[in-house]
Amino acid sequence: FSSFLTDTFGRKHSYLRISLTEKCNLRCQYCMPEEGVKLTPKAQVLSTAEVLTIARLFVHEGVDKIRLTGGEPLIHPDVLHIIAELRKLQGLQTIAVTTNGLNLSKALPRLQQAGLTHLNISLDTLVPAKFEFIVRRKGFHKVMESIDKAIELGYDPVKVNCVVMRGFNEDEVLDFVSLTEKKPVEVRFIEYMPFDGNKWNFKKMVSYQEMLDQIRQHWPNIEPLPAGPTDTSKTYQIPGFRGQVGFITSMSEHFCGTCNRLRITADGNLKVCLFGSAEVSLRDVLRSGASEEELLQIIGAAVGKKKKQHAGMFNISKMKNRPMIFIGADQKAQ
Ligand code: GTP
Ligand code: 5AD
Ligand code: SF4
Repeated sequence: FSSFLTDTFGRKHSYLRISLTEKCNLRCQYCMPEEGVKLTPKAQVLSTAEVLTIARLFVHEGVDKIRLTGGEPLIHPDVLHIIAELRKLQGLQTIAVTTNGLNLSKALPRLQQAGLTHLNISLDTLVPAKFEFIVRRKGFHKVMESIDKAIELGYDPVKVNCVVMRGFNEDEVLDFVSLTEKKPVEVRFIEYMPFDGNKWNFKKMVSYQEMLDQIRQHWPNIEPLPAGPTDTSKTYQIPGFRGQVGFITSMSEHFCGTCNRLRITADGNLKVCLFGSAEVSLRDVLRSGASEEELLQIIGAAVGKKKKQHAGMFNISKMKNRPMIFIGADQKAQ
């Protein structure tokens, strides 16, 4: 495995998240500020060719999983072509997308045929009116339809990402768990995280422990499943249920020690940690005509500076970062 992608704590970064676009067809409250965001001019966004050059380089160095994010990655006009090209890369085992599911159902057969292996869909509420409130747009039924389409096409599990916020959807945790009874979905409850402009505060965050306690009161027999070495989620199952329940505990129990992730923002910056402002422009290096070796040196230097763990939720909430829409959580914004 490449030394350029190994940090000083021995973490091997074999999972690359590439944000294809800053644009989104939703406006999730936890992802972007009310007033919206100013998009990077097109010329400063990575071209499809540049995305593929970067992907090839990372796969050559040992990356075996690429996740396409955004904004909403499915808005990118070349997404099918990009997936088809990624599929040709030897050593790349997983090609995943995290999407808001709005435009997914119709496109899914083609995405699957192009080579999409894994699918995560965001859905924070099962109540249509609450959906419109949190994402500031319509589309609830389209997302539900996409989840069913993904199941029909054999994605198993279909991961459903649910950001839990007090006063908004903590009363729906049990309903989300019930989804896993018959459907091969893994509902993943995500602790609300602070990003620039999302008005995070500690009181709005519902912790893993609180959610698990709530579920245990109803299903005392819920049991943990074995965890993969680099999983972001802690996974459980209700015996007899078809699907699983996961928790992404970035705030209450971070998983930085096993982090294997690097990110490329749509404007071409390498971001070695989701939190914090440390970034280096690969776009500028590429456009300066640098050699592959020079590019690798720059990537290696950035990875070498990666910190052991994030600074803790209260510090993070005060630190400069980007709004999530510019980092590549997934999917929804202008
Ligand atoms: P899988 O590959 O299916 O495990 O998905 P994932 O969890 O890596 O990615 P996804 O895009 O579904 O993100 C789900 C949640 O995990 C989001 O809230 C992400 O912000 C969070 N997440 C993803 N990567 C990281 C990370 O490196 N650090 C932290 N703290 N959270 C992350
Ligand atoms: N806290 C937690 N998760 C978030 N996401 C976006 N913003 C936040 C936040 N502030 C989630 C999206 C998507 C995933 C990639 O990140 O809902 O499912
Ligand atoms: Fe919502 Fe994802 Fe779009 Fe952000 S990128 S507004 S979280 S759908």
